[in-house]
Amino acid sequence: MKIAIIGTGYVGLVTGACFASKGHDVICVDVIEEKVSKINEGIAPIYEEGLDELLKELVPKKKLKATLNAKDAVMLSELIIICVGTPSKDEAIFDYTYLEEATKNVGLALKESDDYKVVVIKSTCSPGTTLNLIKPILEETSGKESGEDFGLGFNPEFLREGVAVEDFLNPDRIVIGGIDERSIKSIRTVFEDFDSPILEVDPTTAEMIKITSNSFLAMKISFINEIANITEKIGSDIQDVAKGMGLDHRISDKFLRAGLGWGGSCFPKDISALYHQSKEVGVPSKLLESTIAANKKQPLRAVEILKSALEDRSFEGKKIVILGLAFKPDTDDMRDAVSIPIINHLLDKDAIIYATDPIAIENAKGYLDHSNLHFVKDPAEALEDADACILVTEWKKFALLTPKIFAESMKTPILIDGRRFFDPAKMRAEGVIYYGIGLGK
Ligand code: UGA
Repeated sequence: MKIAIIGTGYVGLVTGACFASKGHDVICVDVIEEKVSKINEGIAPIYEEGLDELLKELVPKKKLKATLNAKDAVMLSELIIICVGTPSKDEAIFDYTYLEEATKNVGLALKESDDYKVVVIKSTCSPGTTLNLIKPILEETSGKESGEDFGLGFNPEFLREGVAVEDFLNPDRIVIGGIDERSIKSIRTVFEDFDSPILEVDPTTAEMIKITSNSFLAMKISFINEIANITEKIGSDIQDVAKGMGLDHRISDKFLRAGLGWGGSCFPKDISALYHQSKEVGVPSKLLESTIAANKKQPLRAVEILKSALEDRSFEGKKIVILGLAFKPDTDDMRDAVSIPIINHLLDKDAIIYATDPIAIENAKGYLDHSNLHFVKDPAEALEDADACILVTEWKKFALLTPKIFAESMKTPILIDGRRFFDPAKMRAEGVIYYGIGLGK
């Protein structure tokens, strides 16, 4: 099938590369010239495991190319997948500026074409958007009728950043929300050789499945985080509790890792938008509201624990090391990273922060700026003479920090393990004053 992908962020480019790897002919569209040139050179402009390899193989074979010209791409394609970003606006609603712009361009191209084409939305949006926003824009700009002259649908993505290629090629399920049978049939064609259950629904249900899946996962994490705060006090270990719970297939151990909270470009904005919509339609969700509130508090658990560990209960003038800045490992994404409120809180209390991350330091500089904040590349160097350390992001690389390094380099070897990354027994055996989220004394 000939496919146009509008927007080459991690969702768009991964979608394009994976469909090309299945034998389809893919043209990716972006407004940034540099991205387009890089893709055409076979280089991924973003980091995603396995993506560079796919581009290196598929671009020379002419299965995948990129262009700045949306109209040409649409004219040449049977399926047009819109994957532009829908960032959050005013914290609670999606900003559809890029989505509307991309939809208009697709509509204008449809106007010039005599062929039946199907437009698919992959950008996350509030339930109802495909029918109430996208459809009218497409009909107005193309002068054509959906269902008659062109097809339309919503096909959610369930890709985790960092492992998006793997997630795309091995999905748990494929959800196709189409306005009619013909649209659904066309979209189904590109998923023919995927070995996963396919669910066919209307576009609003598909949008709801996407946003509620993310909200549920966020709620699951917040649940285990709140339980971790309890286990800490009553003297049991959240890891064993989660393991015991997770062995029940109805619960599962996935997304049951307690820590300092969830961040990123998806969970925070999706759950806020759904909560906002629940209020708008007159059924405000208490669970969504509490999940958001619990996650706002969770990063500061690290600060509370640290405060109680410091002899004078004061952060003033203390050198505190932050291990990990990105919202999760294997990405340089700082959007809604929990490192931000932790660092800001400590800086407010006059601490001196030495923060390190394998790849997110450059991005972090756009989010954090203070004369008492120092970014350090080498974690071992950061630890020298420190009063305390908080592990915020569980990068594998931090495993190189042995208990001895903490014990010998730091002034006082206080370690708050916000992701339960290190072995408490080994740390304590070496003299490290170790605290783990959800670990009772
Ligand atoms: C999330 C979803 O997992 C994807 O299915 C979805 O497609 C994507 O959002 C999206 O809407 O585009 P992502 O934001 O890349 O993917 O990251 P996750 O791996 O889901 O992690 C989200 C946050 O939860 C991170 O801050 C992570 O540290 C935290 N987390 C995750 C926990 O604290 N505990 C866990 O057990 C799992």
